[in-house]
Amino acid sequence: MLKDKTIILGVCGGIAAYKAIELLRLVKKVGANVKVVMTRAALEFVGETTFRVLSENDVCTGLFDSKESSVRHIQWASESDAVVIAPATANIIGKMANGIADDALSTMMMAVTSPVLICPSMNTYMYENRAVQRNLDILEQDGAFILEPGTGELACKTSGAGRLPEPDLIFDRLVKIFCPKDLKDKKILVSAGPTREAIDPVRYISNHSSGKMGYAVAEAAEKRGGSVTLVSGPVSIAPPFGVNLIQVNSARQMADEMLGHMDDSDIIIKVAAVADYRPLVSYENKIKKDDNPTDSLSIDLTENPDILKMVGSRKKKHQFLAGFAAETQNLDAHASTKMEKKNLDMIVGNIVGIKGSGFEADTNKVKFFFKDGSTHDLPIMSKEHVAHRLLDHIIKRIKTG
Ligand code: CTP
Repeated sequence: MLKDKTIILGVCGGIAAYKAIELLRLVKKVGANVKVVMTRAALEFVGETTFRVLSENDVCTGLFDSKESSVRHIQWASESDAVVIAPATANIIGKMANGIADDALSTMMMAVTSPVLICPSMNTYMYENRAVQRNLDILEQDGAFILEPGTGELACKTSGAGRLPEPDLIFDRLVKIFCPKDLKDKKILVSAGPTREAIDPVRYISNHSSGKMGYAVAEAAEKRGGSVTLVSGPVSIAPPFGVNLIQVNSARQMADEMLGHMDDSDIIIKVAAVADYRPLVSYENKIKKDDNPTDSLSIDLTENPDILKMVGSRKKKHQFLAGFAAETQNLDAHASTKMEKKNLDMIVGNIVGIKGSGFEADTNKVKFFFKDGSTHDLPIMSKEHVAHRLLDHIIKRIKTG
């Protein structure tokens, strides 16, 4: 999304200014052209040289510091595809909200017409100050995107809101600016991860699902403007920003949540790897070896509800339902049978067990199967890309009915 885009990175004077260096690296890595504007106060915290070397561009630190042009700030403003200010201090927020232009960054911002992402970072009391909050409201009303600061211990030894979010989150929000908002006004329900079926309080039956594919789908849908609910089994990855996360353990808990939320959803994508069976008896206390006189132990299993099949049977005409089929062989036949049996609009066939595809990998090899018999085979690609291609197809089909 950011390739060949010109991004202006505004850096203000705050202890978090060092994080702007990592942000710059992330943005450069995906092929964007980055131009850095630093305030005088920013120069007290980080050096201009670092930004110049990493951005491969001159750094603007003052209105009159360019040998080439005295109107560089105007030129940069007009070239920009987006501006991100990180960290944004109370000072720049106040100036931008009130139309004050008295240094390079604030003057340039007067001339910017591209989208602006503001990442406030300051002491908690400053951040909560009514004037700062009022100014942030004004900027939001004026169309700027505000990334709320994180909470935690701050450099000033207080604890609360005011931490600059990590560079990868800022990068993510910047990418969102460039994503098509083709899921705006749509509610998307996604399930992800494995389920755990308790044998006793310390043991369970589960599978290798990492949740990466489902989380990538939820994240992509949120970036495209959707309102996303993510029902997730236990995973060790961070939840995507901006989604309503519902954590579950067992298949029966997942079924309750999916069925409870499905009526309010336009698109339902069931990526979770649900355990097909659970122990018939889940022991209240830990099973002890000493209680078992033999050297073998059998656990009787009973079938779990097929959540997708239940959702499929209740699905309304306006809803789009997609499932996943994880297979080790005969992908086409198994995927098509599952699509029909569970009343799906499409199924994503996923060969597991080959290098770079399946549960724990960051990439996936999938094939889309649609209700009308058409198919679309994708090469191996990142789960993020698979998620976007999947949404492309769903949106196209919803539009054409
Ligand atoms: N699924 C479900 N509930 C289950 C089992 C599966 O909702 N109890 C869903 C999965 O989330 C997935 C789809 O059904 O979207 C296919 O899951 P998969 O494990 O590939 O197939 P199964 O239907 O379980 O059949 P089998 O295990 O025999 O391949």
